[in-house]
Amino acid sequence: MFWLGFLAAPAAVQAQFSTTMLRFGCSQLTIDRIDPLVEPGNIPSAHVHQIVGGNAFNASMPTADISQLASCTTCTFAQDLSNYWTANVYFRARNGSFKRVPQMVNDMIGDANAGITVYYTAPGPNTVTAFKPGFRMFSGDVNRRNSTGLGSKIQSCFRCYDAPNFGGNIYAPCSDPQRDTETFPTKPCPGGIRSSVIFPICWDGRNLDSPNHIDHVAHPVDGPAPFAVVNGQCPQSHPVKIPQVHYEVVWDTTAFNNPQDWPEDGSQPFVLSTGDPTGYGQHGDYVFGWEGDALQHAMDNRCFGPTCNGLTTQGFDKANTCSVAPVVNEDNEGWLDELPGGHHVM
Ligand SMILES: *[C@@H]1O[C@H](CO)[C@@H](O)[C@H](O)[C@H]1NC(C)=O
Ligand SMILES: *[C@@H]1O[C@H](CO)[C@@H](O)[C@H](O)[C@H]1NC(C)=O
Ligand SMILES: *[C@@H]1O[C@H](CO)[C@@H](O)[C@H](O)[C@H]1NC(C)=O
Repeated sequence: MFWLGFLAAPAAVQAQFSTTMLRFGCSQLTIDRIDPLVEPGNIPSAHVHQIVGGNAFNASMPTADISQLASCTTCTFAQDLSNYWTANVYFRARNGSFKRVPQMVNDMIGDANAGITVYYTAPGPNTVTAFKPGFRMFSGDVNRRNSTGLGSKIQSCFRCYDAPNFGGNIYAPCSDPQRDTETFPTKPCPGGIRSSVIFPICWDGRNLDSPNHIDHVAHPVDGPAPFAVVNGQCPQSHPVKIPQVHYEVVWDTTAFNNPQDWPEDGSQPFVLSTGDPTGYGQHGDYVFGWEGDALQHAMDNRCFGPTCNGLTTQGFDKANTCSVAPVVNEDNEGWLDELPGGHHVM
């Protein structure tokens, strides 16, 4: 119950731990088949994403300071005009039709509309260098279909909520070998399925991006830092410690939990929008867009959860009005004969 207490008593926690941890909700901005990080300008891009954050999001985005280009954000902090996105999850019926799995609002996030829960964690005040305008990065490997073999140090996992209401707790992700897996859960999850994507915490200090959007950042020398373990030592090649960005997405699989609807061979029915039926290819995309030094301020001042002295916490009544119209004109809803983009399940 450590984790639940952690969130329920932020004031006490702040007194006891030096860790800085923003945890806040970002509502859906759009669902679209564009990808300004990996496939800038491609309309459509390969697979569908669900995107949150600032309304400067587009099929391509300049490396200029996007906080200057956006006029609103779906995130809790009004100063956070960043964009965060992941692949979507689809259910595949016995007849081969697909339906997009909606998201549910995460625990203790309030009246968000679907979206992503975002974390920024630092070991303590003045221990990390916040990202600069134009910074972007990617976590994961879209084509992976096998285990990373990293044991508990996985950078992406799924949590099967074995009961409604988040299974009664929200223990830290990728930390419970009984319930956190690199693959989609193999049984129906009555409380839905949580995706966790954890980004690297070390930066080369020079490049805002790299050709594969990964090489300018790195994991600590001991391997990927599981969530909230941000003390790892950075390699000499990437000596600058950056905040740990971490996404949580809770998929509302409850409409798809009837074993009669699951494959007759006993396999599980969910696939990523890439066609991945394993889950190993889960990934996350990040485009930094905080205003000025707002993120550095939060990291240096032991800010915690969805509030921070000096930053503006906007209500979801406001955040939920921010949106971007889809660029690609295609039907992603209802029963689909194939995944958008025609991906085969493999
Ligand atoms: C997205 O880019 C197109 C041009 O490619 C432009 O017409 C449109 O206004 C942009 N949308 C936003 C929200 O910036
Ligand atoms: C496929 O199965 C789903 C779920 O049972 C059903 O709702 C849908 O209508 C079916 N589609 C076709 C084309 O038969
Ligand atoms: C696992 O997948 C990775 C990424 O696609 C690939 O590089 C590696 O060769 C695969 N390993 C095995 C044992 O298949």
